[in-house]
Amino acid sequence: MSEFDPTALLEVRNLSKNFGAVQALKDFSMTIHPGEVVALAGDNGAGKTTMIKVVSGVFAPSSGEIRMQGKPVTFASPQDARAQGIETIYQDLALADNLSIGGNIFLGREPMRRLWGVLPVLDRKAMAEAARETMARLDFHVSRLNAPVSNFSGGQRQAVAIGRAVYWNAQILIMDEPTAALGVPEQRKVLALIRQLKTQGRGVIFISHNLQDIFAVADRIVVLRRGNTAGERQIADTNPDEIVKLMVGG
Ligand SMILES: Nc1ncnc2c1ncn2[C@@H]1O[C@H](COP(=O)(O)OP(=O)(O)OP(=O)(O)O)[C@@H](O)[C@H]1O
Ligand SMILES: [Mg+2]
Repeated sequence: MSEFDPTALLEVRNLSKNFGAVQALKDFSMTIHPGEVVALAGDNGAGKTTMIKVVSGVFAPSSGEIRMQGKPVTFASPQDARAQGIETIYQDLALADNLSIGGNIFLGREPMRRLWGVLPVLDRKAMAEAARETMARLDFHVSRLNAPVSNFSGGQRQAVAIGRAVYWNAQILIMDEPTAALGVPEQRKVLALIRQLKTQGRGVIFISHNLQDIFAVADRIVVLRRGNTAGERQIADTNPDEIVKLMVGG
């Protein structure tokens, strides 16, 4: 077996995950480098969500290894994975609807200041400023920065979730179907945000059933079929027909 790659943001080797008798993921291996967008494709039940839940600390793997920059890592919880630089954005975004962008960026990690030098209070100014800077950095402009995010569209909510990951300096962003619930203009905006993350040198794992989106934004694609790796291709060297064949099997 070859050496682990010290330049890889994330490298997984021979990951397996069983649920009782169900082998949801078998001997899965992949590598992701800085500035790379890797798509994970496969039919319903292929093991995509299982794979990212293992890599984001939700499930412990049944076997296999996870490394970051060549060093072995384990994740005791999603918080633990996040603290090590892996942020996962699920389709149900886990934003707090009644809070602003700043409130969501700092959810559970709120900055405090001291009133009259003693009383700890929420530093709302710092939160609003961080929200403004973060969204500007993503070239995403919302007029109502202090409004609760319940007022926002699906694409704007995606942007807030991405903003939160960027603010906390996640090196790897994992997105499970980020464009599925969106209209076409908002899908474009989210794809543009993914390209931004790429130019910032982050790694993105992008799960989608939409091959058009995958071909628009990914560098590489890994296809899963019933928990097995059916194939891995550079986007430049493949086409949607070949990917569909890998997904359904010959
Ligand atoms: N918590 C669980 N307990 C038992 N079985 C599970 C669990 N999670 C997933 N599975 C099983 O593992 C297999 C892979 O499921 P997974 O959710 O990873 O697929 P997926 O590729 O994300 O599919 P989809 O495209 O429908 O989201 C399926 O057979 C599923 O029923
Ligand atoms: Mg899934």
